[in-house]
Amino acid sequence: MRLFLAIDFPESVKDQIYQTILEMKRQYPDGAYTCRENLHLTLVFIGETKRLNDVKKVMSQVNNAAFNLSFSGVGSFRRQGGDIFWLGVLPCPPLIALYENLSEKLKAEGFDIETRPYSPHLTLGRKISLPGGFDGLRSPDVSCFIDRFSLMKSERIDGKLVYTELFSRALNRV
Ligand code: 2AM
Repeated sequence: MRLFLAIDFPESVKDQIYQTILEMKRQYPDGAYTCRENLHLTLVFIGETKRLNDVKKVMSQVNNAAFNLSFSGVGSFRRQGGDIFWLGVLPCPPLIALYENLSEKLKAEGFDIETRPYSPHLTLGRKISLPGGFDGLRSPDVSCFIDRFSLMKSERIDGKLVYTELFSRALNRV
């Protein structure tokens, strides 16, 4: 199974973010855009593994605090064959603390977790060849209270990327 840990958002937040994607689509219809139901923020990418119970065990061991998350502007990474556009998040120490705790514990369990620095972002679209970027794109002015995180399975079904929540863990409300 291809697994990752992620933060899911309330439906109202997904709606707001999806408005930005619809605006991008209007300006550049050929991109590969994230489906509304796939919108999430990755915490830790785990990759292919059969050790589902060990991941759940690690999730159960963390006692991090719930937090407010606010999105910042839209940015892009240059790629051959079209750029990736993403929505950034405002600096959020409790999010970084959660990421660090989870990745440390997964590494201690023998999982091969990426060592490059965590840069929280939410992918809006890929394969976008629009050298000047999007015109007048408004970044969604959204923030939300995050009180849980999820273990997600990623698979391709009939060519479509499908993410399924397998397990979730509450964060501490202080
Ligand atoms: P991305 O949107 O920047 O590609 C499921 O693939 C999720 O895990 C996506 O949010 C993806 O982020 C993230 N991810 C992080 N590292 C990854 C990797 N090495 N391969 C695939 N997905 C990765």
